[in-house]
Amino acid sequence: MFYERVKKSADYINSRISDFPETAIILGSGLGGLVDFMEEKTVIPYADIPDFPQSTVAGHAGNFVVGKIGGKFIAAMQGRFHYYEGFSARELCYPLYVMKLLGVKNLIVTNAAGGVNRDFKPGDIMIIDNYINFLKINPLIGDNDDRFGPRFPDMSEPYSSELVKKAEKAAEKLGIDYKHGVYALFNGPCYESAAEIRAFAVLGADAVGMSTVPETIAGNYMGMKVFGISCITNMATGIATVKHSHEEVVRVANEASEKLCNWMKELLSDI
Ligand code: HPA
Repeated sequence: MFYERVKKSADYINSRISDFPETAIILGSGLGGLVDFMEEKTVIPYADIPDFPQSTVAGHAGNFVVGKIGGKFIAAMQGRFHYYEGFSARELCYPLYVMKLLGVKNLIVTNAAGGVNRDFKPGDIMIIDNYINFLKINPLIGDNDDRFGPRFPDMSEPYSSELVKKAEKAAEKLGIDYKHGVYALFNGPCYESAAEIRAFAVLGADAVGMSTVPETIAGNYMGMKVFGISCITNMATGIATVKHSHEEVVRVANEASEKLCNWMKELLSDI
């Protein structure tokens, strides 16, 4: 049933596109501008795709965009789904299952995040080396369908070291500075308390956000190579000296967007 539903969505997207994307990118808050770099693009609103979930967050459009970037045919999700919107972990990963049936092999996940590591500052870009799933939600809970992946998938390399190396090479070529770190998942939609951030820091988090981890798990499960990047839009609660605002998060992400887009374009040409 789940498989048939996913297949219906994938068949619809297939009927609208002429080439098949091997790489998909999920665009986080304020980072949707990457689609402006795409050529020969087909924009498919989520609302047009049978059985596809619908996103509700300001700053997140809801389009599945397929087109060329860096000479490669890719799929971009302009707008993702979050646990705090009320989706189950499996449902918010629904697009990943669709991508699997479209033939996607590489997944790039991007997000806006709060800086927990005190060496970071707003505007920094962090390559995600690993994650901590503080929430314990998992998209794979429930019946397993072997056509998608195994019951007990390995998670020893959630972010592909091969893609990390390629991204580092691309950043060096473009003269882009970046950090490395561990991304921690918080449920949201409220920001964290200062005590939570102190606890997360002790436990090894460098950045905190409300997305990305479920998609990373689902991507790995389905055999995709995953690469993750966080735009540090603000310092996390207790480290920041001002109160958080979503507008500020989107503003800083928009500011970093051009740099990030150039970087992703370069990376995509090498994948
Ligand atoms: N916390 C959680 N999610 C976020 C933050 C934050 O400080 N900034 C951007 N997304």
